Amino acid sequence: MTEFADRVVFITGGASGIGAASARAFAACGARVVIGDVQHALAQSVAHEVGGFAVACNVRDDAEVAAAVARAVDRYGTIDIAINAAGIGGAEVRTADYPVDTWDAVVDVNLNGVFRAMRHQLPVMLAAGRGVIVNVASVAGLGGFPRHSAYAASKHGVIGLTRSAALEYARKGIRINALCPGFTLTPMVQGMLDAGLPVEELTARVPAGRLGTAEEMADTVLYLCSTASAFMVGHALAVDGGIVAA
Ligand SMILES: NC(=O)c1ccc[n+]([C@@H]2O[C@H](COP(=O)([O-])OP(=O)(O)OC[C@H]3O[C@@H](n4cnc5c(N)ncnc54)[C@H](O)[C@@H]3O)[C@@H](O)[C@H]2O)c1
Repeated sequence: MTEFADRVVFITGGASGIGAASARAFAACGARVVIGDVQHALAQSVAHEVGGFAVACNVRDDAEVAAAVARAVDRYGTIDIAINAAGIGGAEVRTADYPVDTWDAVVDVNLNGVFRAMRHQLPVMLAAGRGVIVNVASVAGLGGFPRHSAYAASKHGVIGLTRSAALEYARKGIRINALCPGFTLTPMVQGMLDAGLPVEELTARVPAGRLGTAEEMADTVLYLCSTASAFMVGHALAVDGGIVAA
């Protein structure tokens, strides 16, 4: 899409999976991409590949997020588009057995991390009078996910945050939506398969009968950032092979 040429795209969780696929897709459209992640070597390698640059951006650390956003603005002058994709899965146990420290980490990365990213990205966009944000939630933000209550709670929170902020900034030229992926074959899900989860257990829950790809999620991220979705505000868009429809 030519409309992304020279646009500055800041991606948390950009070193891997959906974030990295989004970085590649934006770069293929001529965008300038900033990769923020905790996996520094991987972030550097994606940045090298797409011709952008990598910044240390642990979304649990507000000062580091502020510095990462400032570095992007120093280098490229602004941030036109922000993709907040950093996330972790957490434990797979019932709620009463959920380890408190894991609960805290999941909510801190997946929900508070999106808040920290937005609170530093929004002033840059407000100053420019325009911007687009896509927060990566999940179908687990639209319905319950047994044995993953922290993950589901954090992703429901991301959708509430997205809708609220979208309403706050809709008349300020800033459009904010959430992507809600279903099961997608990224290193996060590959880790579950490597740990012994049979892929059929996942695909059986997907009406389309397969896992999604990171590239399919990136295609939707680009759509949500493009003028083709200009009237979508505060939407939580499921891209899930039919899970939510079932
Ligand atoms: N893969 C799926 O099936 C699926 C489904 C629904 C939603 N999601 C969401 O999509 C997003 C991307 O996940 P993915 O599947 O690409 O997984 P992934 O593990 O490949 O990518 C997640 C990235 O987030 C980074 N990250 C983790 N903690 C961080 C922190 N504190 N600060 C900065 N970066 C951090 C990781 O280093 C990694 O690069 C996540 O928010 C995830 O919850 C994934």
